[in-house]
Amino acid sequence: MPAPTPADQPPVPAHVAIIMDGNGRWAKQRGLPRLEGHRRGVETVRATVAAARDLGIRVLTLYAFSAENWNRPADEVGGLMNLLEFFLKRETATLVRDRVRLRTIGRTDKLPEPVRHQLAAALQATEHFTEHTLVLALNYGSRTEVAEAAQAYATDVASGKLPADTPPTWETFARYLYTADLPDPDLVIRTSGETRVSNFLLMQAAYAEFVFTPVLWPDFGKDDLAAAVADFQRRERRFGRTSEQLTAPGKA
Ligand code: IPE
Ligand code: IPE
Ligand code: MG
Repeated sequence: MPAPTPADQPPVPAHVAIIMDGNGRWAKQRGLPRLEGHRRGVETVRATVAAARDLGIRVLTLYAFSAENWNRPADEVGGLMNLLEFFLKRETATLVRDRVRLRTIGRTDKLPEPVRHQLAAALQATEHFTEHTLVLALNYGSRTEVAEAAQAYATDVASGKLPADTPPTWETFARYLYTADLPDPDLVIRTSGETRVSNFLLMQAAYAEFVFTPVLWPDFGKDDLAAAVADFQRRERRFGRTSEQLTAPGKA
């Protein structure tokens, strides 16, 4: 068989979502406080945004703080909020330079005021960019997202905006999710060897490919991202069909 030409290469995933995990263990292995792991994790975020852009990934979603993460010790939550504020303050200029639009999913209204302030500035400074999007999942929980969408949907039925006698199609319902104007993730990566979804994009990842890597988030590099993308490109996404239907569409 001839070597595959670039034209035969499956496309890079348009939307990659990452569950950034393992900061605490990275720090523990070194006898450092957990917050030091989070600090190093922020540097990985910077590098990953650049690497994703270089690979041609249009949308990168990073799970930065889950709705359940409020249950961590107060000093760790406070430290994470300070880091988030610092990250937004420092990175906005880079996002503007690289023409990356910032978006968020999750209940950002519940974040501390200084974080909300930086967030508003970063969102406004980057809102007109279209080519690349960085989505930060902040105080995000998939179950809350779905429950809130159901409530908003019901409100629109009650007011007559939506028909009461026909069940929603998925497409109609999905307009009520935080991700309404975002494509579904094609690839979900979780670092640190854990193999669970932890309330992340449960609906949107219905047909995503998953890559689990043992690498702890602070050690996750450009090559690890490229390897996950290459793994994705070797997969066959069937969406319920048979392999034969995909390889010989005329016949099957
Ligand atoms: C991920 O690292 C960062 C957040 C969840 C905010 P962890 O802090 O969960 O690291 P581990 O899982 O304890 O190693
Ligand atoms: C998931 O990681 C949340 C983020 C990466 C922000 P956790 O470390 O909080 O997940 P669990 O609790 O181990 O499932
Ligand atoms: Mg963890």
